[in-house]
Amino acid sequence: MTPSLRPQPTLDLAGYYHPQPNYFHTKQRLKYLAESYLAPQVLTQRLQDLPQQFEQPHQRPWERFDWQAISPEQIVGVDRELFASLIAASAEVEAPIRDYAQISRDYLQQVHPEMSRFISGSYDAEGKLIEVGVWEKEERQHAPTFCKLYQQLVGEPFTPHSNTITTLEPEIDLGEDLYRHAIRRITTEWSAVSLYLWLMAHSTGALQQAIAQPMQDEVNHLAKFWGMTRWGFADQTFNRLVGMTAQFVQMFDHHQGDRTTSSEILQIGNLRYGAELAYIFTRVLRQICDWNKHLQPEILEGLFGLRPRLRMA
Ligand SMILES: [Fe+2]
Ligand SMILES: [Fe+2]
Repeated sequence: MTPSLRPQPTLDLAGYYHPQPNYFHTKQRLKYLAESYLAPQVLTQRLQDLPQQFEQPHQRPWERFDWQAISPEQIVGVDRELFASLIAASAEVEAPIRDYAQISRDYLQQVHPEMSRFISGSYDAEGKLIEVGVWEKEERQHAPTFCKLYQQLVGEPFTPHSNTITTLEPEIDLGEDLYRHAIRRITTEWSAVSLYLWLMAHSTGALQQAIAQPMQDEVNHLAKFWGMTRWGFADQTFNRLVGMTAQFVQMFDHHQGDRTTSSEILQIGNLRYGAELAYIFTRVLRQICDWNKHLQPEILEGLFGLRPRLRMA
């Protein structure tokens, strides 16, 4: 038998690697990524970890990857400059983590002190931070990782301009305030997961392995925030999915003003990437909604206890 001269397909974290992928190849890779990293058992495991986090806070460990092996050749099927601009935009969205944590504390400390500690840490009687929250510790690694990735790809240092933080107008009802805040957290985690999966579909090798680390942190946060919100507010959460999507669009618009790079994705020549991003945002949401069907109130109460009285009028 003569050995085949056809090159063997290569696999990476996104499934089959194509050196010059078309739209359908990339879509397959996005689907593969969403189905692997947001599989129901993965999301359940991440949610079940939360009661243990309340007892004994601990960070999710990162897998090892070789920083030195990261190179621009590992960018796949997209202009290198555009890819680098989205890495820069990711660093900018991630930058103001202390502000995000402080806002969560303002909403949560009276209602759910354990969740407040998980997100924004512990404070002394004078309100001084004495222990950083696990969520904040995990998030703090992301902006420096994206800056380092940018430097590795472009060969120049990158200093992010932090996004400005938008706060919500306070309502009279505490339940309503908390609910809107939770939806906002979920929306942020959902958009980060989706964008990082898109970056993974357009990369391979050490570059892809590096992006997989913050991405898995975001999946972890998304599962935890979603599960807790479902526990606290039951079915009301999901009557507002449309509102959540609208909030994401608003947030994207707001952050456009903060940076100069990521608007390129919306330019006419890049519509294919816009379509890929729309696909992955929808696919991630679908994974979550499929998982959500299994999150029965009894399971959630088994994990977190009796549901608090947060039902809104
Ligand atoms: Fe993050
Ligand atoms: Fe996150």
